[in-house]
Amino acid sequence: MPDRLDLPAGFRWGVSTAAYQIEGAVDEGGRGPSVWDVFAARPGAVRDAHTGRVACDHYHRYTEDIALMRGLGLDGYRFSIAWPRVQPTGAGPANPAGLDFYDRLVDAQLAAGITPLPTLFHWDLPQALEEEGGWLARDTAHRFADYTALVVDRLGDRVPAWITLNEPFVHMVYGYALGIHAPGRALMLDALPAAHHQLLGHGLAAAVLREHGREVMIANNLTPVWPASEADEDVAAAAAYDALHNRLFTDPLLLGSYPDLSAFGVGADLGGCVRPGDLELVAGPGLDGLGVNYYNPTRIGAPTDPGLPFAEAPIEGVPRTAFGWPVVPDGLRELLVGLRKSYGTALPPVTITENGCSVADELGPDGTVPDRPRIDYLAGHLDALAEAVAEGVDVRGYFTWSLLDNFEWAEGFTQRFGLVHVDFDTQRRTPKASYTWYRDLIVAHRTCRTR
Ligand code: BGC
Repeated sequence: MPDRLDLPAGFRWGVSTAAYQIEGAVDEGGRGPSVWDVFAARPGAVRDAHTGRVACDHYHRYTEDIALMRGLGLDGYRFSIAWPRVQPTGAGPANPAGLDFYDRLVDAQLAAGITPLPTLFHWDLPQALEEEGGWLARDTAHRFADYTALVVDRLGDRVPAWITLNEPFVHMVYGYALGIHAPGRALMLDALPAAHHQLLGHGLAAAVLREHGREVMIANNLTPVWPASEADEDVAAAAAYDALHNRLFTDPLLLGSYPDLSAFGVGADLGGCVRPGDLELVAGPGLDGLGVNYYNPTRIGAPTDPGLPFAEAPIEGVPRTAFGWPVVPDGLRELLVGLRKSYGTALPPVTITENGCSVADELGPDGTVPDRPRIDYLAGHLDALAEAVAEGVDVRGYFTWSLLDNFEWAEGFTQRFGLVHVDFDTQRRTPKASYTWYRDLIVAHRTCRTR
C-alpha cells in the first residue's frame, strides 16, 4: 500500500488561510467594508457575536506568521487578497495602501523561500457591490475582472499561479441560498445566478491572468456523494445532489457545459442567467490546475420535504471532528479517482488546496497543544492521497487548512483548525503537536525523494 512518503518528488507542501479569517485591521489602510463586516455585525448571525475585526491580527503580525511558515519548510502559501482592501467600493482605481500590504506579504514569502499562491476571492465582497446585487448581478463578474487586473498588474511579476475563487458552491449555498454566511440571503434555488456569475467572473479574470502569462486555478469544495441505499429514489437523489454540489462547478470549467439540473426544475440556462458565449468564457482554454478542497463525503437519500430533490442522511460509524464532520480519509482517494474517471484527459493537474479538521484544542499548563486527532486526520488523508496518485491521478501539492486558528465564519472563534494555536486575547501563537508533525513529514518526504 503506498503511503504519504511515496508522494512524488517535487510534490508541493503548503498551508492555506483566507483574508477575513486572519487579517483583522478592517478599518486600516483605506480598506472598505465587506459583506462579512456587515453580516457579522447582525445580531445572531455569528456565534457569540464574534467578528473578523481583529481576528489573528495577521495584518500587523504577518512577519511572525511567515516565520512560522518558514519553520515548517513550506514550498507554498495559499492566502487570499481582500478585494475591499484593493478597491474599497469594488470599482475604480486601486487603493495604493491595500496593494502595498500584499506587496510586502508577497516579498516576505519569497524571502522565506515560499511561493505565494493567492486566492482573489474568498467570500469578502466589497459591501458596495452587495448593494448592487452582489453575485446575483452579472456586473459583479466584470467588476471582479477589473479588480483582478489591478492586483496582477502589481504582483504578477512575482506570483506565477493564481486561484480565482474559493468554493463558489459554498458561497452560493451558505451565502445566497440558506443565509447562514454573508451576505445572508435565503433565496433557495433562486440563488443559482450566484453560481453562474461567480463562474463567469472566474472566466473573465482567468483571461486577464492569461494575458499576463500567469497560471490559472480555482479552488472548489468537492465531496464524494454516497446514496443512502441502493434504492432507485436514493440513487436518483444522490445524483441530483452530485450535480448541484460538484458538477455545477466542474462541468462548465472542464467540459464547457452545465450538468442536468432538471431534478431541481432548472434548465440549462440556470433560470435565464446564462447568455450565449458565457460557457466558452467560463471554460476558456482550460485550467492550469484544479484546486480541490476536501473535508468529508456526503450521504444523500430521497427527499423528505417537497422543496428539494434530496435529503442529507447521517454517516454512521466513523470518527467526527469537533465540528461534527465525519472523518473519512478514503473519501479523498475516492473523490480524486472519481474526478479522473469522470473527466479523463480534461482533468488538469490537481492540488489539494484545503484539507484539515477542527479539534477542541487547549493550551496545556506545560505550554503544549497535543492535538493528536489532527495528526491522525492529516496522516490518514495524506495516505489516501498517495493511493490516489498510485491509481494514476496527477496531484501536485497539498495545502492544509489552516496555518492558524482563525475566524471560522458563522462559528466565530469556536472551531480551531490551525497547526498553530492562537490565544485570541493576547494574539500569542503556539505551534501545536501537528505543526511539528507536519514539519517533520515535509523533511522526511524530501529526504526520501532525493535519495
Ligand atoms: C473554507 C474555509 C473554512 C474551512 C473550514 C472551507 O469551506 O474555504 O474558509 O474555514 O472550509 O470550514
